[in-house]
Amino acid sequence: MRRPLVAGNWKMNGSRESIQALVAGLEQALSDVEAQVVVCPPAVYLDQVAAGLKSSRIALGAQTLSEYDAGAYTGEVSASMLGDFGCRYVLVGHSERRALFSESDAQVAAKFAAAKAAGLVPVLCVGESLDEREAGQTLAVIGAQVGAVQEVLGVDAFVNAVIAYEPVWAIGTGMTATPEQAQQVHAAIRAQVAEKNTAAAEQLPLLYGGSVNAANASALFAMADIDGGLVGGASLKVDEFTAICRAAQG
Ligand code: PGA
Repeated sequence: MRRPLVAGNWKMNGSRESIQALVAGLEQALSDVEAQVVVCPPAVYLDQVAAGLKSSRIALGAQTLSEYDAGAYTGEVSASMLGDFGCRYVLVGHSERRALFSESDAQVAAKFAAAKAAGLVPVLCVGESLDEREAGQTLAVIGAQVGAVQEVLGVDAFVNAVIAYEPVWAIGTGMTATPEQAQQVHAAIRAQVAEKNTAAAEQLPLLYGGSVNAANASALFAMADIDGGLVGGASLKVDEFTAICRAAQG
């Protein structure tokens, strides 16, 4: 059995004050939730969130990382630094990183490798654009994004890792994939991982992301290969995020 997992991607939002309130609210609201919950604040607030989460079962994650270990890389944050601040998870290759900051499949694979080398659990984000979906290329695009990581890391690439399927057209738009559309892609991802490593495929948490909210979460999470969610906008609201976490535990 795969343990349900819900990750909140706070993106570039918040202030010391609002984050203190959010963490305190989540601590209280999620104290009896059985799903694994992860929050991914902006890097400068990781320490503050780690301090606020001390007693709790909520894990800490980062939104991105450098592919380099240390040295003259101005502005970057390494995997070992994230580990030093208590991170267990890190998002890799979010579509906003790919589209707005030109991260290539090769760079995403290098970041994924850096995360694993430092003992972090990478959450590989994959997804197709609306044009790609309409052209019937969805499974090919996702297959290439997953394959780029398999090429670099080999058969054990997705041991102790997570994949999040986030159709680009569904992120922040209010347009969610239907449970059937998401399930079709999730099943294809699991099959691709299974071709290299059956055990890893069976254990791999596959998250859906893209306008997940309290109203649509249950139907998505009921699908056989959807093990939880990667939540953006709704993760900034305690009640909404809590409802999504509860939906994940069935
Ligand atoms: P959204 O974002 O839930 O606001 O659509 C999801 C994400 O980008 O991870």
